[in-house]
Amino acid sequence: MPEHDEHQGKVAFITGGGRGFGRAFGAALSARGAHVVLADIDGAAAEAAAAELTAAGGSVTGVACDVADEVAVEAVMDEVAARHGGLDILVNNAGLHAAYNRPFTELGLAKVRRVLDVNVMGVVICSLAAQRAMRGRTGAAIVNISSSAAYANRSIYGVSKLAVRGLTVSFAREFAADGIRVNAIAPGLIFTDTVRAQLPEAEAKRVLGEQILQREGEERDIVEALLYLVSSKASFVTGETLRVTGGFALSV
Ligand SMILES: NC(=O)c1ccc[n+]([C@@H]2O[C@H](COP(=O)([O-])OP(=O)(O)OC[C@H]3O[C@@H](n4cnc5c(N)ncnc54)[C@H](O)[C@@H]3O)[C@@H](O)[C@H]2O)c1
Repeated sequence: MPEHDEHQGKVAFITGGGRGFGRAFGAALSARGAHVVLADIDGAAAEAAAAELTAAGGSVTGVACDVADEVAVEAVMDEVAARHGGLDILVNNAGLHAAYNRPFTELGLAKVRRVLDVNVMGVVICSLAAQRAMRGRTGAAIVNISSSAAYANRSIYGVSKLAVRGLTVSFAREFAADGIRVNAIAPGLIFTDTVRAQLPEAEAKRVLGEQILQREGEERDIVEALLYLVSSKASFVTGETLRVTGGFALSV
C-alpha cells in the first residue's frame, strides 16, 4: 500500500497537540486521512489547532487534557476509543522543555518534580491508557518524543528524556504481544515557537556549533521520522530511539 494511503481511517492520539511538533504531527497524519485527536493541557490551543486542520479538510478534534492526570487521561482515551472503535497511533509528545533545561539549583524542587510528572509519568500514564484501545489493531504504534538532551545530559530535562528512552524499550517488550510497536524520536534543536521564545540565544548557538550538518532543524524533519516509525516500513523496528539532530550529541 502506498505510504500516503496506509493511514487512511486510522485513529491517532497526539499529546501536546496544540502547537509545535504535536500540531505538525496532527497536520501530517490528518492530511493522510487519519482521524486525529490533539490533546493538550492548553485546551484552547488544542481546539484552535483542530479547527484549523479541520478547515483544511482533516478529521481532527481538540481536547483539554493534562498527561500527568491519570483520571483525565483514561476518561479522554476511553471516549476516543468508544467514538472511533479503537486507537492505532499514540504520540507521547507533550513535554516541558526549553525553560526547564536549567540547573537543578535554579529550577527548585517543585519544577523538577513537575518535569518528571509530565515528561516521564505522562508517557507511562498515556501508554497504559492507550494499550487497551490499541490491542490487536494491525500496525498499532506508539512513538515517544525523547531529545538529544538524553545523550548530552545537563539537567532534569535530560534525565527525563533519558527515562523516555528507557520506557521505550520497556513498553516495546511489554506491548509486543498485543501487536504494538513502541519507538522514540530524539530531536535535536528545532526552532518551534516555544524554543524561539524560551531558549537563550547563546544555548542555540552552542548547539548549532556542535551539529555536523550546518543548518537549522525544522519541524518537517521530525514529522518525516514520525511518518516512518508509524508506517509499515518500520514493521520490524521496535524499542529504538531515532536521533534526528543534524549530528548533534553523537555517541558510538
Ligand atoms: N523543539 C525542540 O527543539 C525539541 C528538541 C527535542 C525534544 N523536544 C521535545 O518535543 C516535544 C514537543 O516540543 P515542542 O517544541 O513542539 O514543544 P511546544 O512547547 O511547542 O509544545 C508542547 C505542547 O505540550 C503541551 N503540554 C505541556 N505540558 C502538558 C501536559 N502536562 N499535558 C498535556 N500537554 C502539555 C503544551 O501546552 C504545548 O502545547 C517535547 O516533549 C520536547 O521536550 C523538542
